[in-house]
Amino acid sequence: MCGIVGYVGTKKASPILINGLKRLEYRGYDSAGISTIEKDGISLMKDMGRVKNLENISGINDLEGTIGIAHTRWATHGKPSKENSHPHMDNSKKFSVVHNGIIENYESLREDLKSKGYTFYSDTDTENIPNLIHYYYTKYENEKGIERFLKSVRSACLDLKGSFAIEVICSDFPDNMIVVRKDSPLVIGKAEGENYLSSDIPAILSFTRTFYLLDDYEFAILSKDDVKFYDKDLNPVNKEVKSIEWDAVGADKNGYEDYMLKEIYEQATSTRETVGTRFQGPKTAFEELDFTKEYLSSLTRIYIVACGTAMHAGLAGKTVIEKLSKIPTEVDVASEFRYRDPLVDEKTLCIFLTQSGETADTIAALKLSKEKGAKTLAISNVIGSSITREADLSIYTHAGPEIAVASTKAYTSQVVLMNVLAIYMSEVLENNDQKYLDSLKEEILELPEKVEETLKISESLKDFARQVYQEKDVFYLGRGVDHAIATEGCLKLKEISYIHSESYAGGELKHGTIALIEKGITVIGVLTDKNLVKKSISNLQEVITRGAKTLIITNQKDLDTKAFDVVVTIPESNTFISPVLAVIPLQLFAYYVAKEKGLDVDKPRNLAKSVTVE
Ligand code: M6R
Repeated sequence: MCGIVGYVGTKKASPILINGLKRLEYRGYDSAGISTIEKDGISLMKDMGRVKNLENISGINDLEGTIGIAHTRWATHGKPSKENSHPHMDNSKKFSVVHNGIIENYESLREDLKSKGYTFYSDTDTENIPNLIHYYYTKYENEKGIERFLKSVRSACLDLKGSFAIEVICSDFPDNMIVVRKDSPLVIGKAEGENYLSSDIPAILSFTRTFYLLDDYEFAILSKDDVKFYDKDLNPVNKEVKSIEWDAVGADKNGYEDYMLKEIYEQATSTRETVGTRFQGPKTAFEELDFTKEYLSSLTRIYIVACGTAMHAGLAGKTVIEKLSKIPTEVDVASEFRYRDPLVDEKTLCIFLTQSGETADTIAALKLSKEKGAKTLAISNVIGSSITREADLSIYTHAGPEIAVASTKAYTSQVVLMNVLAIYMSEVLENNDQKYLDSLKEEILELPEKVEETLKISESLKDFARQVYQEKDVFYLGRGVDHAIATEGCLKLKEISYIHSESYAGGELKHGTIALIEKGITVIGVLTDKNLVKKSISNLQEVITRGAKTLIITNQKDLDTKAFDVVVTIPESNTFISPVLAVIPLQLFAYYVAKEKGLDVDKPRNLAKSVTVE
């Protein structure tokens, strides 16, 4: 999705902005641009394609301005083109604006502005914004100083329907920038004698680790030494500064060829961080949660709502939460949940899983659940992310920054955290033998070593990737939690290697899919649930008989594996946490296949790291 960077200080803004945009490249984009305030007015430079193209625009190194805004665009309204890329300026060239989000009423706004004499050069929804600001600026001509600028931005924003994070500069105020957000992320990084702005913390992490988080309809006026905040009615607001524990090294490749590979290899550390000190006492520590035995006993249902990989982590988490709490638990895709009028009331606990905490559908699903009276719990990786500010309760995965578009360590940390949560809930409910719960804790504490071992074992898949990388279709099979794991592995292959792949519950094979199995087709089986392994093997036999080549991922030591072409045996674990280990070979397999194809694994085509629009 689009990325925003901004700078106000004493240094030349353009190199800082470009550096920030490069750090946002992982979000996915099709064009990039910057505006700075120069002695002779606002400069505007933008181009299609990579930030590198922007960097090569002649004259960009001559920019002297110490205040500027920058953007990477991921096309929504209007095709990728130089004209449609941001920043956008108003007709008088007094204002320059970058915007993330979607303006839903852009057509009526455009018609209205046209009727007032404004002209448009792009197909974007964003171009309305600088013109609307200009329109109000002329209306507020009697206002003095920065008030006039602020009021104009506010009035323009009140006309907008949809989601937005906006940065505005104005040639009349060369020392200031105004920013505002609604349903789209924006953070202000505070440093000595300079302030930074970004849609995403990693972009400015090398400059500062102290941040202000803007709430919906909060406006901020930035100068080099100061940030002033205002609410929707322009009353001044005091804002607390937050410190972020992530460091810039954590957001760098650290010697790895790609972020994805680095993040796969970080999973021993990240899963350890997820557990933290929660198991140090006799009972699981969750100070952030206020669950009582009475409350949990009153629940008739738990929903786990998420998108993509987070939803797959939810499928894995459902097993442990339902088994230990004994409360019926359902997993829903956020984009479906929000429109299907779900049965949610005060007897429902709704858990929202999201790495970024900014996924538009997941946030909308949370708001709906709140309206219906449910308690909402956000599980996110990003401290202070939008969802955590909406939810009744929030807990963090502490996996560290995840930059690669394909989610890996966030998934494993989400699965671990749901295990820890399930144990905590069971302790509050007092519904399972404590010895049994303690044994589950032991297994979770042993996970990081097993993750290390699994990483080593999985490296053998490089060879298999070489056999598969030119194929058109790959099938994944599993039953129970193994189906959930297979589905996540299947998504990984799809998104970074562009190979069509499907994941099936083993028993479903005969009901149609087996028609697609022919000689040479690759089928990957996940076999970790000992109660279902035999059933899955029967399904795999069915595809072997029809000529399929098979890879199996298993933790069953005494399995007869002669029939399979490649076998990856991972360390044993209980089925609640087996997704953490079994997904690793699947992540690495997808990675190796994509590398064999020579693809950019960190920035797969058409995908964005956080999907902040519907
Ligand atoms: O930030 P979130 O966890 O809410 O993101 C949800 C999905 O967009 C995300 O998991 C996506 O499916 C990944 N690209 C998968 O690797």
